[in-house]
Amino acid sequence: MCGIVGYSGSGSPKQVILEGLKTLEYRGYDSAGVAILDGNHFKRVRAEGKLNILQEKLNQENFSGKIGIGHTRWATHGKPSERNAHPHCVKGISIVHNGIIENYADLREELKASGSEFHSDTDSELVAHLISAEVDLGHCLFESVLKILPKLEGAFSILAVSADQPDEMVAFKNGPPLIIGQANDAIIVASDVQAIIKHTKEVIYLNDFEVAHLKGSDFKLFDREGKVVAKKFVHIDWSPEQVEKQGYPHYMLKEIFEQPRAVASAIDPHIDLNEHKVFLNRLGFGRSVEELDKLDLAQDYQNTVQQLKKVERIFIVACGTSYYAGMVGKYVIEKLSRIPVEVDIASEFRYRDIVIPENSMFITISQSGETADTLAALRMVKAMRVPSLSICNVKRSTIDREADGHMYMNAGAEIGVASTKAFVCTLSLLNLLALSLAKAKETIDEASEQKWVRELLSSPSQMETVLAYDKFFAKASDTLKKYRGFLYMGRGVNYPIALEGALKLKELAYMHAEGYASGEMKHGPLALIDESMCIVMLAPSDDLYEKTVSNLEEAKARGGEVISIGSGENQKLRDVSKHYLSLPNASWFVNPILEVIPLQLLAYHVADALGHDVDQPRNLAKSVTVE
Ligand code: G6P
Repeated sequence: MCGIVGYSGSGSPKQVILEGLKTLEYRGYDSAGVAILDGNHFKRVRAEGKLNILQEKLNQENFSGKIGIGHTRWATHGKPSERNAHPHCVKGISIVHNGIIENYADLREELKASGSEFHSDTDSELVAHLISAEVDLGHCLFESVLKILPKLEGAFSILAVSADQPDEMVAFKNGPPLIIGQANDAIIVASDVQAIIKHTKEVIYLNDFEVAHLKGSDFKLFDREGKVVAKKFVHIDWSPEQVEKQGYPHYMLKEIFEQPRAVASAIDPHIDLNEHKVFLNRLGFGRSVEELDKLDLAQDYQNTVQQLKKVERIFIVACGTSYYAGMVGKYVIEKLSRIPVEVDIASEFRYRDIVIPENSMFITISQSGETADTLAALRMVKAMRVPSLSICNVKRSTIDREADGHMYMNAGAEIGVASTKAFVCTLSLLNLLALSLAKAKETIDEASEQKWVRELLSSPSQMETVLAYDKFFAKASDTLKKYRGFLYMGRGVNYPIALEGALKLKELAYMHAEGYASGEMKHGPLALIDESMCIVMLAPSDDLYEKTVSNLEEAKARGGEVISIGSGENQKLRDVSKHYLSLPNASWFVNPILEVIPLQLLAYHVADALGHDVDQPRNLAKSVTVE
C-alpha cells in the first residue's frame, strides 16, 4: 500500500528518491519521508501530507552521501502524522516498510520489556528496533536482517540502512512487491517499476523471503538461510512517457481517454485479424510467467483449449471495480457458453466455507495483481488444486505469478486511484474468454464467433465517439454537483455497470450514489426519489430495453431528474429524460464497454467541480495489499 524507494549510486539520492516517490504516490499519500546519508549518519526528513510538502522541506537540505531510502505512506497502524511517517530510525538503523506486521503487538511488548522506547504508533518501527538489537550483539546489517526475518509475521517489504555500514542497503520482503533495477552506476529498489524505468528497464523481482544485499552500485541475492540465489534480469517494456500526464489535467482523464487504445491492446494478441476468430494466446496454463515468452504458441493454444473444454463451472473472484467487471463476465460467459458462473467479492469468498465442484475453473481479476484478499482467495483454491486463471494488468505481479493461466489487460500504467482503463480492458478480455469457452463447448458456430469478434474490434473506435461526452459533463457538472444523491440503474449486463458508475461517483465526488437492478426499484429505492435525486438510467437497445423504459417511467413519475443513456437516436428516451446521451449502436456484448465511459466522465467532472483531488481521493489507495 505504501511506496518505497531506495537508491545507491553515484548520482543524487535526494533527486532519484523524490522522483521515484512521485511515481509511487498513488500507493499512499498521507505522509512521506527520506533518510539519506550525510557525513557518517543518515539524515532523516519527514512530513505529514502529500509529497510536495516533503519536497519543500528537502529543498533546504543538502546531503553529502550517495545512498538513501524514501517512503510515501498510506496509514494502517497509527494516524497520518510526521511522527508516524517513515523512515523509522533506531540508533544507526533506518528502515522503510510497506505492509503490515501482524504479530506487531507481541513483538512490541517484548521489545518494550527489554528496554526499547518507541517513538511512533506504527507497526513498522519495531523492525528498526529488532535489527538494532541484533547489531548491538555484533552482527552486521545483512546478518541482522537474516536473524530477524523469521520473527516477522504478515506482509512486508522493507529497506534497511545502517550508519555503521554507510555504503550498504538490505532489501527483503514477504508479500508486497519489491523490485531492483541496476543502471550503469546505481541501484534503485522500489515497490513498483514505475519508480525505476526512468533509469533502467532491466529489473529483478524479489521473491518472498529473498534478501538483497546492496553495496555501492552492486548487489547479491540470498535466500532466508543466507545462501546465494542466482536470478536473471527481466526486461520491462513500459516507457516513462506512459506514466506521465501528457497534457491532461489529471491522470484519470488521461486514462479515460486512453481507453480505446487500451482495449485495442488488450484484445490484439487474441484475435486472428484475417479470419476474425478468437485465439487465446499465451495463457500458458501450468507454465511460470518467465516461460510465457518462449511458449510454442500452437501447442500452448491446444493446451488452453483442452483446459477450457474441461470446465463445468466458473468462480470469478475480485474486489472493487474488478469485481463489477467479473459480474459483467458472468452474464456474458453464461449467455454464450452455458457454463454456470459464480462471482464473489474476494473478502467474502475467502472466509466462506466454499464448495467447489470438480472441473471448476477459478478466475481472479486484479488490475494491480497485489490485492490482498484476491491473492488470499487464489492461494486458498490453489491449495484445493482448482485450476486458476488470472486477469491482470501488472505482469509478474504476485497474483499473475501464482495463477496457473495468465491473461493481460495490457492497459499500460494506471495511476488514477479509481480504475478506468483496466476495467474496460477486463471487459474485453472476458468477452474473448466467453467466446473461447463457447467454442470449446460448441455452443456457438463459426459465423457467430466472427460476428462477435467484429463487434469487439469495432469497440475502440466506438469508444472514441463516446469520449466526446467529456465536454457535456464538463459543462453539466456545476448543476450535477448540487443533487442530493444519484441512483444508477440498469438491467442484465448493464446492471454491474450501474454499480460501477455509482462506485466511481462515491470514490471521487464523495456523494451518495447507489447502483440498482432496475427491476428492484419498486422494492425500496423508489422511496428515495424526488426532484433532488438524479437518476442515471442505462437503457441501451437490447432484449430488456422495453422493461427498462417502464422502470424509467416509474422513476420519472416520482419527480426524479433523469439522465438516460441509450443506443443511437431515441426520441422516446429523449422525451422522458432531462438529458439523453446516445451511444453508437452495438449489442449487449459491447454495450457495457461503451456505457461506462459517460459514467466515468460524470464522476470525474463532478468531483473536479467540487474541487476534489480526482487522482488521489481521500482515504483510498490504488493497490490494497492489506486486508
Ligand atoms: C482499490 C482501488 C480500486 C480497485 C480495487 C481492486 O480499492 O481503489 O480502484 O478496483 O482496489 O484492485 P485490483 O488491483 O485488485 O483490481
